[in-house]
Amino acid sequence: MRTRRAALTAIAASASLALTLSACGQSSEGGSEEGSGSTKGATIGISMPTKSSERWIADGNNVVKELKAKGYKTKLIYGEDDPDQQVSQVENMITQGVKALIIAAIDNKSMNNVLQQAKDANIPVISYDRLILGTENVDYYASFDNEKVGELQGNYILEKLGLKDGSKKGPFNIELFAGSNDDNNTRYFFGGAMKVLQPYIDKKQLVVKSGQTKLNQVTTLRWDGGQAQKRMDDILTGTYKSARVDAVLSPYDGISIGILSALKSDDYGSKSKPLPVVTGQDAEVASVKSIIAGQQTQTVFKDIRALAKVASNMVDAVLNDKKPEVNDTKTYDNGVKVVPAYLLQPVSVDKSNYEKELVESGFYTAGDLK
Ligand code: GAL
Repeated sequence: MRTRRAALTAIAASASLALTLSACGQSSEGGSEEGSGSTKGATIGISMPTKSSERWIADGNNVVKELKAKGYKTKLIYGEDDPDQQVSQVENMITQGVKALIIAAIDNKSMNNVLQQAKDANIPVISYDRLILGTENVDYYASFDNEKVGELQGNYILEKLGLKDGSKKGPFNIELFAGSNDDNNTRYFFGGAMKVLQPYIDKKQLVVKSGQTKLNQVTTLRWDGGQAQKRMDDILTGTYKSARVDAVLSPYDGISIGILSALKSDDYGSKSKPLPVVTGQDAEVASVKSIIAGQQTQTVFKDIRALAKVASNMVDAVLNDKKPEVNDTKTYDNGVKVVPAYLLQPVSVDKSNYEKELVESGFYTAGDLK
């Protein structure tokens, strides 16, 4: 679905990302300058969830680049969506003496023991993009306003259907998809979207014909597009024999592409049966191309170049006994403590603004999206 070639194209898209191509998906070591004070030459462990999605490849490379620019060495490892493997990789990095950890967890509840080991070895931990739950041994959280991501998706659907400005009354048929149930972001994305959609469901201007409206009925383990495709297939066969679906809430581009495959197999996208509004997240190349081609309707762009900067600044501050910059000390309770966070702003992107947000910002070149 998302090929390695597409992933590399995405990375090469930005000049700044291209600089780190040699480290693509691999462990990497070495830094050009020396770190400051007692952190000179320290190695930072970076644990990323999977290379199957282009965003995480870029995330890993961006963080390496930012840390190297600050004089650190880095060790970048991918867990291939296997929580046990990720835990043992983190354990190895602790044994190897990394001085700090940046972790985007696969299963947010799997890190408890290994982070106790980190604590015992005096290694600070930054939770990257996804909050690690159930342990006090996570120091800071670098992420986006995750509830806002869901709100942007929900509001986009309302606007596109004409419900927001009241130009249409409906009822419209909508189906709901959520992300992996072991990813803390999932409930924020879904919660944000439902906050804006639920009043319209209550007024019956939006109808979920499958009846699947609860989070535990709509999650997609490990954000797998194939699984989403299958669920959409089943919904279309089971529920939409004579009716038509007008909108699909999708939390992530890989899931959106799966949903669109199911829709296209059911003849959506033909003259008599237009595709529904389909949302997404991450502005992955395949989805932006799909948006340009008039298939996927929207995505949420999160500038992960900025996220890498935030996480690296946090590491640098902590290792130099300074307080990292945070802008949220209330939202992200991990069950044991509220983790101080720096949250970046997500942006809704569709055909009308992708050039401004994605090309003019240097995230992609126009050529990447051809
Ligand atoms: C989430 C992340 C999303 C998306 C998803 C699937 O944790 O916030 O942006 O990438 O994982 O990888």
